[in-house]
Amino acid sequence: GRAPDLAGRRVVISAGGTREAIDPVRFIGNHSSGKQGYALARTAAARGAEVTLVAANVALPDPAGVRVVPVESALDLADAMEAERRGADAVVMSAAVADFRPAASAASKIKKDGSAPAPVELVENPDVLAGLVASRDREGLAQTVVGFAAETDDVLANGRAKLARKGCDLLVVNQVGGGRAFGTEDNQAVVLGPDGTAVEIPRGPKEDLADRVWDLVAERLPD
Ligand code: PMT
Repeated sequence: GRAPDLAGRRVVISAGGTREAIDPVRFIGNHSSGKQGYALARTAAARGAEVTLVAANVALPDPAGVRVVPVESALDLADAMEAERRGADAVVMSAAVADFRPAASAASKIKKDGSAPAPVELVENPDVLAGLVASRDREGLAQTVVGFAAETDDVLANGRAKLARKGCDLLVVNQVGGGRAFGTEDNQAVVLGPDGTAVEIPRGPKEDLADRVWDLVAERLPD
């Protein structure tokens, strides 16, 4: 096994995909399985960390020794992450969070009545990751905040712009679309850091990518 280099550290990870209710039976969602986030949780626990996993709609067994906080929507996830981040050494946002939600969720199942379907009006969700960075900065804490970026095109250019916009310390950029990353056993990524650093993580099991991310986080933790 690996040295317990995260012993005494507390980490908070989000995993899975949010669901935004349209009515009591329908939602807007995405294809995240939670596998990448659960791999981050298992590897952090194996390296000695105290792990909290905020899980959005994941159908995977709870990792041993990890506290799992189930959530459904982006707003639920935002509340859970803001509560759990307090006092954590590192926060990792691997969940796929909906950027928009229906402006209102119908109280009853929407029926087909022969007329044209009503459009679903959307409003913007808060940017949870940017909020976590703002909370950290407001408190002046030594807390490492890691984002993920799912990009289909111009992966590096979009990743750099996203790192600047969200203000996190590290951004794990993985390419999606064409059957990549969402729901798969393997993943590959480039981890963008401050001052233009870019660390390539070759294709391999999601656990391997997770361990490489923790290596980069561990380097940043104060003694
Ligand atoms: O779960 P798997 O099937 O294993 O798939 C893993 C994954 C592809 C979902 C994962 O590796 C991944 O890329 N997660 C991030 C997906 C995502 O939402 O990317 P994004 O580029 O839309 O968002 C960038 C970052 O901002 C992410 O850290 C995201 O959590 C965060 N975000 C996005 C929108 C929002 N409203 N609030 C956020 O915090």
